[in-house]
Amino acid sequence: AAPTDYEAEDAQISQGAVESNHGGFSGRGFVNYTNVTGSYVEWTVPAAQAGTYSLTLRYANGTTVNRPVDISVNGAISANAVAFPGTGAWTTWQTKTVTATLTAGQNKIRATATTAEGGPNTDKLTV
Ligand code: GCU
Ligand code: CA
Repeated sequence: AAPTDYEAEDAQISQGAVESNHGGFSGRGFVNYTNVTGSYVEWTVPAAQAGTYSLTLRYANGTTVNRPVDISVNGAISANAVAFPGTGAWTTWQTKTVTATLTAGQNKIRATATTAEGGPNTDKLTV
């Protein structure tokens, strides 16, 4: 199937806020993770068939410090501490792609900050 965009501002957010003060995002804004370990964004993504999918996160990190996040699918860690290094500015958006196994039906894809800096500002997930 063609890739589908899932905006972060439409996802479930734990310890974060939808904001729009840094341009270049898609949709209505992006999620500003609260700068704490454990803050997360969780998307519900349907898959017609079980299998391996590319998950692409679009993000900005205006600092020079990596903002790693764990990617889990339906509660199981799929990718540990995926790196989201600095992009140069909060208005400079880049993408990071990981692969994950999805099940047929709904998948809860969660991106959880693993450091006290929280996650990067996150625009969307493309699957
Ligand atoms: C700034 C920036 C936010 C960002 C935050 C951070 O406050 O405006 O968009 O999320 O830094 O360091 O996490
Ligand atoms: Ca933040």
